[in-house]
Amino acid sequence: MAISGKHSWIENSDVFSLFPTLAWKIQLRAEGQESIDASVLGLLDSLRQGQPALKTGEAWQSGHGLHRREELQELCDCVRRAAASVLQFLKTSDETIEITGCWANLYAPGAAHPMHSHPNNYLSAVYYVRTWPGADSINFHDPRSQTGVIRPPVTELTAANADQVVVRVRNGTLLVFPSYLCHSVDANASGETRTSVSFNLMYSAFTEALSKPMWGDD
Ligand SMILES: [Fe+2]
Repeated sequence: MAISGKHSWIENSDVFSLFPTLAWKIQLRAEGQESIDASVLGLLDSLRQGQPALKTGEAWQSGHGLHRREELQELCDCVRRAAASVLQFLKTSDETIEITGCWANLYAPGAAHPMHSHPNNYLSAVYYVRTWPGADSINFHDPRSQTGVIRPPVTELTAANADQVVVRVRNGTLLVFPSYLCHSVDANASGETRTSVSFNLMYSAFTEALSKPMWGDD
């Protein structure tokens, strides 16, 4: 029911969602998760060898080429398959989409990540290796910038009036979302380091296959 209450002048009413913003949450099976996590944590140990432990409030990001590391191929395969399923769901081009960047994130207690998006990519993903109570969420922000022009106070927070959505994650969760979608991470309120791996994906042949005028090039 779109409009509640008795309205003698209404025969019926409906409410519908226009242009929804979609994100995908995938939970890996425990077996796959175990071997992927061991590979990620092993790689991180070697990448951070000799570096001092993170202090309270500090975050560390690896370089952005981890998708080329042998140790992460099992995880990268999951991400590629998830992205292919997303494209199938969206019924968009079946052109190959590839991982363009992959990096690990360590957040010490107290560390946060401000709002940002991932330009020049189509899809982004995050895989959660180690989450903790108080360090197990990500915030997605309303991409419709014009809705911020007037924000009347809400009487009850619902999906229809929220300007951000908090998504809970746990160990083994893989999130996939549009790269344009702004997101942020609250300060780690646990006593442990939160570990995740981020991905960007883009069409391999965007210039060649997708950017040409749709009415031909003669
Ligand atoms: Fe991000």
